[in-house]
Amino acid sequence: MSENQVLKTIKERRSVHRFKQGPVTDEQLTSILEAGRWAPSFANSQPWSFLVVRDPDTKKKLTEVVERVTIARQGVTEAPLLIAVVVDPLKDPRHYLEAGAVATQNMSLAAQSLGLGSYWVGVYDPSGRRNTAEAKMKKVLGIPREFRLVALLPIGVPVQVPDRDREKLSDIVRYESFGQA
Ligand SMILES: Cc1cc2nc3c(=O)[nH]c(=O)nc-3n(C[C@H](O)[C@H](O)[C@H](O)COP(=O)(O)O)c2cc1C
Repeated sequence: MSENQVLKTIKERRSVHRFKQGPVTDEQLTSILEAGRWAPSFANSQPWSFLVVRDPDTKKKLTEVVERVTIARQGVTEAPLLIAVVVDPLKDPRHYLEAGAVATQNMSLAAQSLGLGSYWVGVYDPSGRRNTAEAKMKKVLGIPREFRLVALLPIGVPVQVPDRDREKLSDIVRYESFGQA
């Protein structure tokens, strides 16, 4: 299979849950945010905002809430910065979630391409209820009720990059009709 830089970055990206002390520079951060900005969205609605968090107190508060959705909470405190991906359902009532998801993935690939690591903390709660981890994080971050929080992306220099595989193409690809393997 041919392997250009994009394909290599896609394949080499792994979720990284622990981070070294090293910083994420402003230049790196801008490149990552630019990658989010250039994500596709329905009718180019761009329903996202990216909230950058560096404050240790805020990270600590988020870590306490994160405990409810993932065991991998240490990375939220260790990462020098977090990007909260926020979407506005009023800007795109049908596809705000997909838009937030592709922007998140673009940013995680950008981080990978710069030698950084990240992992997706899945905070979005389909119920949209008040007592969820998503609602609590929104409160910590001062995000108004009508917006939704799709993901929290801790970003930093990885301690180590884990090895994770995928199902074989032959097990997941079908041709012409779903019944045909
Ligand atoms: C929508 C979504 C939600 C996720 N939520 C979490 C999470 O809450 N905690 C976590 O540690 N990883 C989370 N992940 C990362 C996955 O666990 C990870 O991508 C998967 O195990 C494959 O590993 P890899 O990313 O290293 O290839 C999430 C990924 C996605 C796409």
